[in-house]
Amino acid sequence: MKRFVPAISALAGFLLIAFFILWAFSLHGTLGLFRVNGQFHSLFLYAGGFGLLLLLGSILYFAIKTKLQTSSIKWLAAILLLLSVPGILGPPLAFLYADGTFSGSLGATPPQLLIADGSGKNGIPDLAVTFNSVSPEKDTLTWGTPDKMITDTENAAQTGHVFMLRDLEPSTSYSYSINSGNPYTFTTPAAGDELHFAMGSDAHFGAGDNRPDLTAKMLGEIAKKANGFDLFLSAGDLVDRGFSAGQWGEAFRAFSAASSVIPTRFAVGNHDTLFSGLSRYERYAYPAEIVVQTGSRLWDRIDVGKVHFLVLDIEWSAESYTSAQASWLEAQLKDIPSDDWKIVVSHGFYYSSGSVVDGWEWYDNHETISALSPLFEKYGVNLVLSGHNHQMEWLQHNGVSYAICGAFGGLPDVARTYTSPASLWYLNGADGFLDVTIKGDTCTVTFRDPGNAAIKTFSISR
Ligand SMILES: [Fe+2]
Ligand SMILES: [Fe+2]
Repeated sequence: MKRFVPAISALAGFLLIAFFILWAFSLHGTLGLFRVNGQFHSLFLYAGGFGLLLLLGSILYFAIKTKLQTSSIKWLAAILLLLSVPGILGPPLAFLYADGTFSGSLGATPPQLLIADGSGKNGIPDLAVTFNSVSPEKDTLTWGTPDKMITDTENAAQTGHVFMLRDLEPSTSYSYSINSGNPYTFTTPAAGDELHFAMGSDAHFGAGDNRPDLTAKMLGEIAKKANGFDLFLSAGDLVDRGFSAGQWGEAFRAFSAASSVIPTRFAVGNHDTLFSGLSRYERYAYPAEIVVQTGSRLWDRIDVGKVHFLVLDIEWSAESYTSAQASWLEAQLKDIPSDDWKIVVSHGFYYSSGSVVDGWEWYDNHETISALSPLFEKYGVNLVLSGHNHQMEWLQHNGVSYAICGAFGGLPDVARTYTSPASLWYLNGADGFLDVTIKGDTCTVTFRDPGNAAIKTFSISR
């Protein structure tokens, strides 16, 4: 038995070290395995350190056994075997957990009307109707205007359903129905310089300390025809644990109240891509069947007449801001006419007030500021919308306005201990969403409470 002891502990050590290395080198990989950040970093450092300890233990055992020829190293054998059990079982269990084996299933989800990258031929973006079924089905979508209805049928049975609605007409009412079921109606935005959209971030479905009741209330207000929203932007951390299929299902079932009738774009947040969550985010929030014209499924550009959105992949800080994304962003900013509206949407923030939590400074993020703010200033970005900090704040720096509104149901952050010099208004401990109206040269930004009452309004002009 004793000769197996160093082998077992070496195996456990190697597994743990491999676990650490996989995390360390796949952080930005397309696979997205171990795409974790912030407070979770320490977990992998501990795993690597523990693995190293086990390897050293097995070497020590071997040395004692061969050099001293002693038979009294039972204590070392016992310790090594005991430590090897979690070392061997931990990584495969973590894989199984992150792969969804123990974290629920997506289930059936009602339709989402998703905004595609780029623009259709009439100056507004193409849309896609997406939904999920539990078992594979071959479904049909009937959609269009009363005088022109189209029926699309899928080629093969599947569980993830995607139907593209291309080249839509601006300011037009459309309806769609799945397998001749109840119709959903929506109105496309205008293709000029008038647009009314909502933005919410950090719903954190599945967190346990989130408020799905408040999220549902806000979704109800955004969906209301009388409130007249053209588009809805969700700025990330939709779910608390991106690897949990069950949490995505819960989120989409709730969001469909608004996102089935208001064209919606789900930007990516750090919680959405947690561990192996990246592939789930892409599959559910930007399925491969949706066209990509300028960017990718993680970052893209949405053109609505003279209003242009640049949806970025800034998940935590600047680590997900790859050189490919940076060159794409600058190319888009150069390409957009200089007097058109330019609005950036990203989960991670730039200027912000906040406090130190888990050893990280949740305020004025020097990594994102140095990587992106000079570009915003150079190309005259008008408005930057983000979440990640669970608060509401309005800031301005060098002619660029920044709104943080990570208050769509996730647990509010503790009150700030640091006030950004760029901060003009800050509210902590309240839930809400952002209402943005663009009319010609004026943009009005209103922070609203869950019941749609205005909390604070700001105005900027281009
Ligand atoms: Fe969050
Ligand atoms: Fe976040």
